[in-house]
Amino acid sequence: MNANNSLGVEIIGIGSYAPQKVLSNFDLEKIVDTSDEWIQKRTGIKERRVVSEGQNTSDLAYMASLNALKMANISPEEIDGIIVGTATPDYLFPSTACILQDKLGAANAFAFDLSAGCTGFIYSLSVAESFIKSSKCETCLVVGSELISRFLNWRDRTSCVLFGDGAGAFILKRGVKNSIKSIDIKSNGKYAPLLYMPAGGSSMPASEKTVSDNLHTVHLKGKEIFKIAVHSLSNSALSLLSKASMSINDIDMFIPHQANKRIIDAVAENLKISEDKIYINIQRYGNTSSASILLALDEAYQKGLIGKGSTILMTAFGAGLTWGGAIVEL
Ligand code: UT7
Repeated sequence: MNANNSLGVEIIGIGSYAPQKVLSNFDLEKIVDTSDEWIQKRTGIKERRVVSEGQNTSDLAYMASLNALKMANISPEEIDGIIVGTATPDYLFPSTACILQDKLGAANAFAFDLSAGCTGFIYSLSVAESFIKSSKCETCLVVGSELISRFLNWRDRTSCVLFGDGAGAFILKRGVKNSIKSIDIKSNGKYAPLLYMPAGGSSMPASEKTVSDNLHTVHLKGKEIFKIAVHSLSNSALSLLSKASMSINDIDMFIPHQANKRIIDAVAENLKISEDKIYINIQRYGNTSSASILLALDEAYQKGLIGKGSTILMTAFGAGLTWGGAIVEL
């Protein structure tokens, strides 16, 4: 079959990038009333990466994209679509995707951002898959990039210890092989107030008061989200397996969104998947939102724990609330 006439969507490039600067739990002990012991016990996080001055979300996305382009062995001009899943864009507008397009020199691509919180990468993957299948594009760069450290209230110990900065990228191309075995995206706006940034949008524009009240930062009700996350991630994984006519035994590696090690453990127990089939790197990166699955997947790939032909189950949840997942064969 001619690749141009086929409807397969193939993953041809994977890349990620995390900034150099490490912020450990011990560093945080000096900033807020917390302890390394509490953070590790309740979240599994030991340290996270944070950007340096002058680095923006688009810079993280750029580095991850370069790595993915290298693996795909294609030039930026061959990309005809760029989707960036981010909740922490360079600007409200223009999109971070357009800034990335310019940095890459991907002159032939359309570019836009997609807002689905920590599920941003899964949503972007789903949109890219549909675009390729409906011939809206042939080679799509899908990025999850987050710079959360600039949107945290560093006096709020209930949120600032959880997050880190990073980015990851997939390059998808229309081909004979179909890498995406099943994909699922869901949302429930009723839960929007559980995880949001109160100010900076049209409902509460910036003012001296919004700045002094720290309203341009992440506000979350962690305990409530925790319960919904375990339930929705477990259900999403089961529905993905069923759609793909697979059982959990067909999965080589489960790579969940890295928000909390205890959430991952609870989902793993529900899915009855063994520990050696779950990839976790939250201890070194914290929650990097839409970048977390890609940072973990690329790391597992670089270590040789997964490779061409591996079947990966990915699930995520985040602001919206949104959740979803995908089963892919690399
Ligand atoms: O990816 C999407 C975004 N991520 C999330 O939405 C996170 C989901 N939720 C979680 O991961 C967990 O709920 C948290 C890690 C946020 C919190 O863990 P928890 O086991 O649900 O703790 P908690 O909120 O029930 O707090 C327990 C105690 C409280 O003290 P009291 O009331 O028992 O005296 C908190 O004030 O721990 C206290 N606490 C802390 N203590 C030290 C909360 N944060 C900290 C902290 N250091 N950083």
